[in-house]
Amino acid sequence: MNYRHHFHAGNFADVMKHALFVRLLRALQRKEKGILYLDTHAGRGRYDLAAAAAGDTLARRPEWPDGIGRLWALPAGDVPAGLGDYLALVRDFDRRAGNLDGAPRFYPGSPWLAHALARPVDRLVFCEKHPAECGALRAEFAGLPRVAVQEDDGYTAVRALLPPRERRALLLMDPPFEEPDEFARLATALAEGLQRFPSGTYAIWYPLTARAKADAFLNAVRNLAPPPALALELDIAGADAAIKLKGCGVLVLNPPWQFEAEARAIVTALAGLLAQAPGAAARVQWIVPER
Ligand SMILES: C[S@@+](CC[C@H](N)C(=O)[O-])C[C@H]1O[C@@H](n2cnc3c(N)ncnc32)[C@H](O)[C@@H]1O
Repeated sequence: MNYRHHFHAGNFADVMKHALFVRLLRALQRKEKGILYLDTHAGRGRYDLAAAAAGDTLARRPEWPDGIGRLWALPAGDVPAGLGDYLALVRDFDRRAGNLDGAPRFYPGSPWLAHALARPVDRLVFCEKHPAECGALRAEFAGLPRVAVQEDDGYTAVRALLPPRERRALLLMDPPFEEPDEFARLATALAEGLQRFPSGTYAIWYPLTARAKADAFLNAVRNLAPPPALALELDIAGADAAIKLKGCGVLVLNPPWQFEAEARAIVTALAGLLAQAPGAAARVQWIVPER
């Protein structure tokens, strides 16, 4: 397990995933009843964008300036409607963490975004397998009510925690894709999750490094005969660009009512804002249509 999210925090993929995630959670919270939020691959929760660059022995170009950096720089009136809520949460987190600079410094991972929105009736479970990352995550949430941090395999937690006692759940499955069989493991975990809890909302992040692998995964999901499934994809560059991660997707199973329209507006806006080379585009596709 060599992956550290630090170097990628706040990049275009985080922006897309987190902006959609915020809308998803808000939509599920339209009903008063509490939900279980399970983050299967939670990361460390908080990222110091300055420290990541300073500690990078490979001296890579930081990724956040082409992600959250671009949104941050927008004049308030130019922030697309669907992104305002997410951006306000990130700005608030950064300010509370003590940053007084003009540029972003502290970026919230999915656990802190979920916590910022959680109501007293909601329950949050964060799984992180890497001991050091999990230690940092545990320290972030020490003593906070309704939050459980588990140093555990996120896929095992899907089996262990579903069905939830709340009878409502949002799962974020956001693996690092270090292992060649990550898509297969995701599909297996989804099959198990759906078998135990078919009405849950599942959000799965996936990279668009090889179109064929993503398509095979979407096909595998289709073959599970799952509930309605919406694939949202963002290309930041065309197929010929010399960029390894040219785009990413978020697959949402059981999306809430009217989520498609909101999500479509978000990915369309991001294709304009986060383009890194010619050929940037947004795609929205029902993998399994709504009935
Ligand atoms: C992409 S990062 C997560 C980012 C986080 N969801 C966010 O949006 O802020 C993936 C994380 O999964 C962790 N990880 C890898 N394999 C895992 C597994 N089987 N179960 C749980 N966590 C795992 C890695 O250590 C890494 O911190």
